[in-house]
Amino acid sequence: MAGRIPESFINDLLGRVDIVDVIGPRVQLKKSGRNHKGLCPFHDEKTPSFNVNEDRQTFHCFGCEAHGTALGFLMEYDSQTFPEAIETLASMVGMEVPREAARGPKVDTELYDVLRAAAREFQRWLRGGEAAAAVAYLRERGLSGEVARDFGIGLAPEGWDRLKTALASSGEQKLVDAGLLVRQEGGRRTYDRFRERIVFPIRNTRGRVIGFGGRVYGDGQPKYINSPETEVFRKGQELYGLYEARRAQRGLQSVVVVEGYMDVVALAQHGVTNAVATLGTAIGQSHFETLYRHVNLVVCCFDGDDAGRGAAWKAVDAAFPVLSETRQLKFVFLPEGEDPDTIVRQRGREHFEGLLDSAEPVAEYFLNRLQTGRDLSKADGRAALVELAAKDIRRLPQGGLKEILINDLAARSRMDASVIAQAVREPGEMGVEYLAGDVGRSGGRRDFGNKPLLKYVVQYPQLIDSMDARLRAELADSADPSLLADVVRQIVEEPGMDTGTLIASYQGQDSHTELAALADEEILLTEEALALDLEREVRKYVAVRQGAALSRRARESGSVEDAQRRYSDAKAQQTL
Ligand code: UTP
Ligand code: MN
Repeated sequence: MAGRIPESFINDLLGRVDIVDVIGPRVQLKKSGRNHKGLCPFHDEKTPSFNVNEDRQTFHCFGCEAHGTALGFLMEYDSQTFPEAIETLASMVGMEVPREAARGPKVDTELYDVLRAAAREFQRWLRGGEAAAAVAYLRERGLSGEVARDFGIGLAPEGWDRLKTALASSGEQKLVDAGLLVRQEGGRRTYDRFRERIVFPIRNTRGRVIGFGGRVYGDGQPKYINSPETEVFRKGQELYGLYEARRAQRGLQSVVVVEGYMDVVALAQHGVTNAVATLGTAIGQSHFETLYRHVNLVVCCFDGDDAGRGAAWKAVDAAFPVLSETRQLKFVFLPEGEDPDTIVRQRGREHFEGLLDSAEPVAEYFLNRLQTGRDLSKADGRAALVELAAKDIRRLPQGGLKEILINDLAARSRMDASVIAQAVREPGEMGVEYLAGDVGRSGGRRDFGNKPLLKYVVQYPQLIDSMDARLRAELADSADPSLLADVVRQIVEEPGMDTGTLIASYQGQDSHTELAALADEEILLTEEALALDLEREVRKYVAVRQGAALSRRARESGSVEDAQRRYSDAKAQQTL
């Protein structure tokens, strides 16, 4: 089965397949000219925005931007891998898929044979005379023989060389390479890795055994051991249960990621057949890449403890670069001390599925978590939230999820979505302290408003002259008592003013020395770069200041809602 499919064959195949024949049986299409329209299968909609173009042999949804060829459609819709989709298309037009000799590092396929043989031995032992304690343990955990069979669960009996003896004909070194025997450090002797444990065979998506996880069924430490990485066992991308889930549900649409093997099988036992687990490692980007090749929705449901919550937060980080509007990620948080296994056993399938249905979308979880402990009624609280969130949102691919996050963040921080989008596009050179520059700080010196900005303006007053008029008006707002606003007002009153004249107009005031000092500070940007930077930073400054003014008014009037309404009314009028 291995081996590359020749490029020429793929082109030939795509030339013979009609995309309408591929999509037609799966989505109800209505013909209009050379176009076919239907309800998009990739997002919820009531009016058709899904188009199939016969001439171009492509599909495109104007609603969710899903698009591609017949091949891409099959991969998304039927969650097929690339070779699977090729096979499907080829069988539609009666072609045989040729394979080139596999290139690149050749996998030792004998390892698969050895691992399969080992799985068979383990299963035999679980049905044998030494299995009483292990079977009792599985029973006590509520597992039926049927589920044990579906997952190929077995028993590694007591003793140091049981498997070694049973599979002696495979050769000792092969068993070591497969991770089944451990070679004593520096020594010649080898012994069975899995002893007196219930073993869970780990299968790749094609159903081949690639490794094992083993759990003690009495007392003993460690609770679990796993096969080491081998040529065929890559913990960073493989997931326990994915093969079984795909086999249990044709056209699998979603998976639940849990922490443990036991969680996977307990859920299956209760009819939740789409759970998968990582292999004793944290979930990483490659895991998500594997998962999204098969499904559109991943729900993480980790244990209700600090480790589980920590794992969820790390999962966001790992998933961000690969998420899109069609690749959704959600989170379920379990009560303290519970894991999916205990929950489904205590509360049953419906309860668990209810939890899945009300899982928190990644956008909400992400912002809620960043927001925790921050006072968003304060400008610096909001600024810090924006700065932190922007750093991560930047890593998202362009698309719907990014927009959702930008808009949500704008609403939470009470800033304009365009300001947030800008902050996401380019890291602010001036950093958090700058954004946080609150206004109206009382006592002592006159508030700068914002020092870096003030420096720019003092050294390049002409930039204020050429600035967008509305933005300039906002910056010069007479309600802003800062030195920055004051300086801008001077420049607006007297266009064409130069730095010397500007500073001179503060003669005799405290601010005079400060402005003179700022005029002498170095600016490393060219005037052109500065103009761009200035405009962006002014937008942020204005947004933050308006937010601060808003919450101040709210404190005075006692109602945030009122103030918010006044603020949006004012905004609406401006844009009319
Ligand atoms: P948990 O400790 O959460 O175990 O480990 P669990 O699945 O709830 O186990 P039960 O219910 O007591 O049987 C979760 C996963 O972490 C890895 C295993 O992959 C396990 O399934 N793990 C755990 C290890 O690799 N080694 C250990 O000693 C413990
Ligand atoms: Mn558990």
